[in-house]
Amino acid sequence: MQENKAVPVALGADHGGYRLKEEIRRYLEQKGLPVQDFGVYSEDPADYPDLAEKVADAILDGRCSWGLLVCGTGIGMSIAANKIAGVRAALCHDSYTARMARAHNDANILVLGGRVLGGGSALEIVDAWLAATFTQEERHRRRLAKIAALEHRKEKSHSDEHGADH
Ligand code: RB5
Repeated sequence: MQENKAVPVALGADHGGYRLKEEIRRYLEQKGLPVQDFGVYSEDPADYPDLAEKVADAILDGRCSWGLLVCGTGIGMSIAANKIAGVRAALCHDSYTARMARAHNDANILVLGGRVLGGGSALEIVDAWLAATFTQEERHRRRLAKIAALEHRKEKSHSDEHGADH
């Protein structure tokens, strides 16, 4: 994934991630990267799956290039976002995992814990994410294809469970 300065980055956070999302929004804007901020816009309580869905939709329909999701720990956002077919959301706590998330997993959403990370380390993680690209190597493509196949498997077992023939 190359940085495309014409296509915005999708941002989303709940109340636990609001402050860090705001800090990263300013940081990305300073770098000249356009952002589309899906909220939240205050520290009023919000349900993280709602924000995960908005950011995921914006990436999957091509309105945005990649996404940033922040909640208190990053765990709820990553669980919720990864329920959506086509999303590869990576909860990162350091630069190495952020780089690998893009290089090996072609992750399309970076997830951070607003109550876990200090601002400085969060911005280092964002920098590592921005500097990395998917390697395109066959073995990683194969593994991503297997992840995509798991998405279909989920649908299959769900419909089997409720199938009319049983
Ligand atoms: C909200 O209090 C908190 O549960 C949320 O931000 C997140 O950490 C969930 O995983």
